[in-house]
Amino acid sequence: MTTSTAPSATDLFAQVLRYEHRADPYPYYAQLGREPVTRMDDGSWLVSGHREIRQLLHDPRSSADRLDPRNKVPKPARSLLMQDPPLHDQLRRVVTDEFIPRIMGMRDHLGELVDGLLDAHTGDHPGQLDVVADLAYPLPVTVICELLGVPREDEALFGSLARRLTRGLDPIDTQTEEEIRELDQARGELVQYLEGLITGRRADPGSDLLSGLMFHQDPDDVMGPIQLRVTLGLLLIAGHETTVNLIANGTLALLRNPDVLARLRTDPDLATPLVEEVLRHDPPVQMSGRSALADIDLGGTTIPKGSRIRLLLAAGNRDATRFDDPERFVPDRRDNAHLGFGGGLHYCIGATLARAEAQIALTALARRLGSPRLVADPPPYRENAILRGPEQLLVAFDRLTPDTTPKER
Ligand code: HEM
Repeated sequence: MTTSTAPSATDLFAQVLRYEHRADPYPYYAQLGREPVTRMDDGSWLVSGHREIRQLLHDPRSSADRLDPRNKVPKPARSLLMQDPPLHDQLRRVVTDEFIPRIMGMRDHLGELVDGLLDAHTGDHPGQLDVVADLAYPLPVTVICELLGVPREDEALFGSLARRLTRGLDPIDTQTEEEIRELDQARGELVQYLEGLITGRRADPGSDLLSGLMFHQDPDDVMGPIQLRVTLGLLLIAGHETTVNLIANGTLALLRNPDVLARLRTDPDLATPLVEEVLRHDPPVQMSGRSALADIDLGGTTIPKGSRIRLLLAAGNRDATRFDDPERFVPDRRDNAHLGFGGGLHYCIGATLARAEAQIALTALARRLGSPRLVADPPPYRENAILRGPEQLLVAFDRLTPDTTPKER
C-alpha cells in the first residue's frame, strides 16, 4: 500500500516562490487557500483566506513593522508602509495632502501620454509591440517623474536602481549572499541619488510634489530630512514597479480572452470593472506582511505575539468562499472586493492614479490595435515573486490605427 501525504504549507509556499512557477503560481495558491491560516516550519504564518486577510489588515494588533531581522534598515529610515500609528498616520496625512490634489483632473493628460507612446508605432501594416517596454513601463514612469519633478534624463539611472531594489522585497531566503550585498550597494546609490535631488530642489523649489512634501506646513513636523528621502524613494519605486504589471497583466487577460477585448473596443466603460478584475485575478502585488503585537485569534487559530505573518493577497483574491467561480476572469464581476491594493490603514495611496493609467492604456490598446495576438504565451516573467509581472510582452498586430478620439479644446 502506498501512502501519499499532502504537501505542507512550507512546501507549497516554496513552490509559489520558485521562478519556474512565476508565470502561473495560482495552482499553489489554490492549495494553500484550503487552509486560511497556517504555520510554516520556520514559525512564521501564512494567511490566505479573504476574510482573515481583511481582518488582519484592519486589526491594530497587527503591525506593519515586519522586516526580517536580518534586514538592516533602521526603524526611523523606514517608509510609512512599514510604520505604525501614530507616526504612520502623520506621515500619510502629509503625503495624501500633497499627492491627491496633484493627480486630480489628470485623465486627459494620461490619454495624451498613452496615445503619444502608441503613435510611435502607428501604421497600416503588420508590426509588433513590446507592451511592457513601449507602454506599460514608460507611462507610469513618466507620470511619477512629472509629478515629483524628477528630471526625465535621470530615468535610466533611477529605473535600474528601482529594479535592483524591488528584488529585495522578496523573502530574504530566496536571495543569494551576492544579491543581498548587491542590494546594500543599490540602497547606498539610491540614498546618494535622492539626497542630490533634494538638495537641488531645496535651493530651487517648484510646484511639484517633491517641493510640496519638502515645504508642507506640518504641525506634527514629521517630514524631516530622512523621512523626506524615504518617502520620495517609496513614491518613485511604487510609480515604477507596480502599475507596469497592472497594464501588462491586463493586456495578457485581454489577449487571452478575445471576446472581452472585442467588448472593450466598443464599450470603453467596461474598462472600469475590467481593471478591478485584473487586480483580483492577477494582482501586481501578490503578498504583503505584518507582525503580531499580541496573540491574535484568527479563523479558529491563535497567532502568537511576535510572529511574522505573510498575507497572500493573490490567494485571498481567489478564495472560493468569497468569490463565485474565482479562477475565472469575469470582466464585469459585480461583487469584487479584491485585496489588490491592500486595505485598512495602509490602503494604497496611488490606487486612483494606477486605476486611471490602466483603464486608459487598456482602452487605447483595444481601440487602436488591429488583430493583436500574443507572440509568446506565457511571456517571460521577471524574477520578482512579490511585485510580479512579465519582463516582456510581445504583441503582433496587423495594423495600429492613428488616435482618432476627439480631443477637448
Ligand atoms: C497597480 C498599481 C499598484 C498596486 C497594485 C499597489 C498596491 C499596493 C498595496 C497592496 C499596498 C498596501 C501594502 C500593505 O498594506 O502592506 C500599497 C500601499 C501603498 N502604495 Fe500602492 N500600489 C500601486 C500603485 C501605486 C502608485 C502608482 C503609488 C504612488 C505613486 C503607490 C503608493 C503607495 C503608498 C505610498 C503606499 C503606502 C500606504 C501606507 O502605508 O499607508 N502605489 N500599494
